[in-house]
Amino acid sequence: MARMPLLAVASTALLLVLFVSAPPCRAASGGGPPAVLLPASKDDATQQYVTMFRQRTPQAPVKAVLDLAGATLWVDCEAGYVSSSYARVPCGSKACRLAKSNACATSCDGAPSPACLNDTCGGFPENTVTHVSTSGNIITDVLSLPTTFRPAPGPLATAPAFLFTCGATFLLEGLAAGATGMVSLSRARFALPTQLAATFRFSRKFALCLPPAAAAGVVVFGDAPYVFQPGVDLSKSLIYTPLLINPVSTAGVSTKGDKSTEYFVGLTGIKVNGRAVPLNTTLLSISKKGVGGTKLSTVSPYTVLETSIHKAVIDAFAAETSMIPRAPAVAPFKLCYDGSKVGSTRVGPAVPTVELVFQSEAASWVVFGANSMVATKGGALCLGVVDGGATPETSVVIGGHMMEDNLLEFDLEGSRLGFSSSLLFRQTTCNNFRLG
Ligand SMILES: *[C@@H]1O[C@H](CO)[C@@H](O)[C@H](O)[C@H]1NC(C)=O
Ligand SMILES: *[C@@H]1O[C@H](CO)[C@@H](O)[C@H](O)[C@H]1NC(C)=O
Repeated sequence: MARMPLLAVASTALLLVLFVSAPPCRAASGGGPPAVLLPASKDDATQQYVTMFRQRTPQAPVKAVLDLAGATLWVDCEAGYVSSSYARVPCGSKACRLAKSNACATSCDGAPSPACLNDTCGGFPENTVTHVSTSGNIITDVLSLPTTFRPAPGPLATAPAFLFTCGATFLLEGLAAGATGMVSLSRARFALPTQLAATFRFSRKFALCLPPAAAAGVVVFGDAPYVFQPGVDLSKSLIYTPLLINPVSTAGVSTKGDKSTEYFVGLTGIKVNGRAVPLNTTLLSISKKGVGGTKLSTVSPYTVLETSIHKAVIDAFAAETSMIPRAPAVAPFKLCYDGSKVGSTRVGPAVPTVELVFQSEAASWVVFGANSMVATKGGALCLGVVDGGATPETSVVIGGHMMEDNLLEFDLEGSRLGFSSSLLFRQTTCNNFRLG
């Protein structure tokens, strides 16, 4: 009795809700909304990107940290989780197998609650900021996300049985104030992109537009035009590069043989002011052991480079900026300038471009001053790359600052990453995204 009804109930309830709330004009194939979204804002104290959604019955707002890694959504189920609609994912069920769980919480003596259930599939929620993980029940509950963005928050689409993992209160340590979990945007089966696509029957892809401050950026799941005020449509103008799969898991807890669920890209070189920086290209490929290569991470505030790459980029950038007066280095950065002596442009401080060159020369992500330079409190302006040490697991980690006010499309179906370069160039920002 435990196995099948979950899914049956889920799809019936889903149809009912969507017939009521879906806009009249929608994708012909499914019955659901063509897209749902999450707001994204930057928490200044931690430099994490946080979001807000509605979960449970009665629906409660939940604040959580966005993460391109991770396996599922996880929230603290120990404190303040009140809901009449949660259900356990039984050990040995199809969902439990799909979640690649081989953990099972067989019995719990206390009063039943999301954190205390019998015969429940188990997961290993990880705080990817502090790299602390624990074990927790895998359960389902109602999750609601908006279907439009601007001018008003639109109608909500509801997933009646959204699968997630129960974290613990101690796991929240290190997250932005008020956050009670993390939203995984990884390629894992039950991370948001794939689970939402399966629930609402839209494309397995999402677009990420991170704001540089508390302003509202957005994560758009499914099939939506990428329209920004004033009248900028980026849907057809993204540049694409293949997404790569690292054959070895990069998560804190994994099973031998697991592939990484993070997003890797084939960086082949870096240019500064149009000139190639000499790099050890072996570091740019992913080895059989899963070491090396380039990934994107929203929990890394700045781009992190293996030591020799870091030095080469710093040296090249210094050589191209010998006319700009320097300032003492401000940790964690090595190369800083007197901010008052740097001109400004529409795309940030007037400094040489940094180009991330992918497999094809034509597909290069041009990084302008707004995304390469970091203004420090003391008035210095520093090249925002950090030394990741001589033996990091991944050689290049493209961090949040470099992604801000850029539109990035993670197309899991097409296995490609689309990027726009700076929206400032087109006189708009992530804050101007609109849908509906
Ligand atoms: C688990 O099962 C045992 C034995 O049937 C029962 O005593 C206990 O209350 C159950 N626990 C929960 C949380 O339902
Ligand atoms: C390039 O990097 C690889 C991997 O770390 C290393 O084995 C090799 O010695 C490096 N080559 C040079 C010329 O430094």
